[in-house]
Amino acid sequence: MSTQRSVSELRQDFKILDQEINGKPLIYFDSAASTQKPEQVVEAMRAYYYNDNANVHRGAHTLGDRATSGFEGARDKVVHFLNAASRKEIIWTKGTTEAMNLVANGLAPRLNKGDEIIVSRMEHHANIVPWQMLAERIGAVVKVLDVSENGDILVEQLDTLITAKTKILACTHVSNVLGTIIPIKEIVARAKANNVITVIDGAQATPHFKVDVQALDCDFYAFSAHKIFGPTGIGVLYGKEALLEEMPPYQGGGEMIERVSFEGTTFNQLPYKFEAGTPPISQAVGVGAALDYLNSADRKAMEAHEQALLTQAIELSKGIPGMRLIGESSNKVAVMSFLIEGLHPSDIGTLLDQQGIGIRTGHHCAMPLMEYLGVPGTARASFAFYNTAEEVERLFEALAKIQRMFT
Ligand SMILES: Cc1ncc(COP(=O)(O)O)c(C=O)c1O
Repeated sequence: MSTQRSVSELRQDFKILDQEINGKPLIYFDSAASTQKPEQVVEAMRAYYYNDNANVHRGAHTLGDRATSGFEGARDKVVHFLNAASRKEIIWTKGTTEAMNLVANGLAPRLNKGDEIIVSRMEHHANIVPWQMLAERIGAVVKVLDVSENGDILVEQLDTLITAKTKILACTHVSNVLGTIIPIKEIVARAKANNVITVIDGAQATPHFKVDVQALDCDFYAFSAHKIFGPTGIGVLYGKEALLEEMPPYQGGGEMIERVSFEGTTFNQLPYKFEAGTPPISQAVGVGAALDYLNSADRKAMEAHEQALLTQAIELSKGIPGMRLIGESSNKVAVMSFLIEGLHPSDIGTLLDQQGIGIRTGHHCAMPLMEYLGVPGTARASFAFYNTAEEVERLFEALAKIQRMFT
């Protein structure tokens, strides 16, 4: 931590927010889908293309060296961001989705027919479908860890759910629909006690609070850069070195090999074994800049600001007749899913957009959770540190108007 600018100063770095939509000042309440990018991230990527662009790991000329140090330097920043034990444990991927597919593929040799994979009911499809595909391939079984009415994970259920056949437990750190912060440390401890490998989806946790993978003691942890104020097209898989060593490569090609011949190919060392082809270089530079940005700010103050916005929103929701919050855990990030009686969520989204307010509506890539909740979808307003109390007020003024006019 160094400069410690206030959250209102930090907002000035997000030029995109300074515009009108449908004649009204833009209010962006869809950061859970993708965050906006500060000027510093855009500038770092521009500078990379203007000054340093070349392929990495070739060492033949100065631009190649500069590109490599930008790319590998960003990996070191991720090591620090997650408190990983080594840079060998940080694999660049396209995002959380690719990270989950990589792990599911890599763990296949550990599984036998009839083995079990536990997945929570509140997972994003990215942490369900790869496990279903793996189960199908091996003849394994996917079992579901349930959710309580207010949106918490039923951790005690693990006592009966985990059996001698359970090999993997895949769980999100924060629900993208409910906002619930899951007690991952406790879940990992229960899994470890039974030799179950843990795969944690950190896509919605990393934007909101500091994560320490060694303290959590999880085996794998994934996140997407575009949700932490970085670029699209890149994300990270953290994995414990011993497990990554044992896993087969995910894709074959350049970069991931040590020696290729028609008699046989040997693979590169970690982390390169899992990074086939020319990697996302400018994006990694953008990730480095996003992490520098977060490190230079007071993350505790950002968190407190977001929590204040959430508290304000929950309070104001009581004034809208027929408004129902979905996900009322006492421990949650600033994500508010809701329904208004008599209104379809997608209509709420369209009507808010007419007021310049961008929210997300639909199933949020969590169809099993929607089915469990008995709803076709929800409206979701998600807040970041660059949002303001005035914006939350305007959201509720707009919702009150919509509620009066259309129900
Ligand atoms: C909890 C969670 N997991 C996984 C993902 C997938 O991330 P990506 O599309 O960046 O791979 C998302 C994206 O919305 C998410 O919210």
